[in-house]
Amino acid sequence: MSRPVVLVTGASRGLGAGTALALAELGANLVLNARNQERLHEVAQQVQALGAAVQVVAGDIGDPETPRRMVQTALEHWDRIDAVVNNAGIILPLARIEEADPEAWMQNWRVNLLAAVMLVKEALPALRAQRGRVVNISSGAAVRAFPGWGAYCAAKAALNHVTAVLALEEPEITAIAFRPGVVDTDMQADIRREGARAMPREWYERFIRYKEEGRLVPPEVIGRMVAHLALAAPHEWNGRFLAYYEEPLRSWLTARGVPIP
Ligand SMILES: NC(=O)c1ccc[n+]([C@@H]2O[C@H](COP(=O)([O-])OP(=O)(O)OC[C@H]3O[C@@H](n4cnc5c(N)ncnc54)[C@H](OP(=O)(O)O)[C@@H]3O)[C@@H](O)[C@H]2O)c1
Repeated sequence: MSRPVVLVTGASRGLGAGTALALAELGANLVLNARNQERLHEVAQQVQALGAAVQVVAGDIGDPETPRRMVQTALEHWDRIDAVVNNAGIILPLARIEEADPEAWMQNWRVNLLAAVMLVKEALPALRAQRGRVVNISSGAAVRAFPGWGAYCAAKAALNHVTAVLALEEPEITAIAFRPGVVDTDMQADIRREGARAMPREWYERFIRYKEEGRLVPPEVIGRMVAHLALAAPHEWNGRFLAYYEEPLRSWLTARGVPIP
């Protein structure tokens, strides 16, 4: 049987890189995207060392041409798409609404929201053919307001809702929004570096403590969960927002032998 093909955005580092490596271990071929070509190629080499075939599509995922190229690349090389992981994300701008900069908000929404919509749109015919899956990497910020995070909170809330709409429109595929908890990536470093100005002190200090107390989860651990979801999430979860530390996902991951921190 030929290997499943998965598209992963934001795969040059952090959760996207962790997901790519776990997918390779599970036997998938990959199309990887991010802007930083050098780092993306480093991840691609690690993926190849695990036996996967990989194609790299470097570029801004907020430019609709990039999702289009990812899908074209997958179809040219393998003629199938089994899953899409919309992982690329940015937390910036961290700023109160009284200081909102329209271009910074639009850039946040292009990467966190519009890119996911455009990649799914391009991949849909191929996903339908495989009865494939979409994993949208969401956040607790989709359902909980954080002061100073307006653009990001709004984008992730909208991403959850888009997932639910997609589930109603496309019953042949399985789309879920995944909440990864707090992961030890550059995004957390962005919050520690730029959050103090935008967030009330007690909110900001919580993120400093996460790091100091070793409570951030390594991206490889969460990436393994995302990889299992991309390849095997049950159809009955279509449209749902799921966290790994809650049911039903917790038991499902445990049964598949995926370690839960
Ligand atoms: N870390 C957490 O605690 C946490 C919590 C909840 C949700 N999440 C979500 O998890 C996902 C991954 O975040 P992370 O924590 O791994 O962050 P990260 O370490 O900052 O990685 C972000 C990834 O997205 C890529 N990216 C950013 N802008 C892009 C653009 N315009 N076009 C293409 N790629 C772009 C980056 O690569 P380049 O710079 O090379 O483009 C990088 O590979 C995001 O959706 C985030 O919202 C993270």
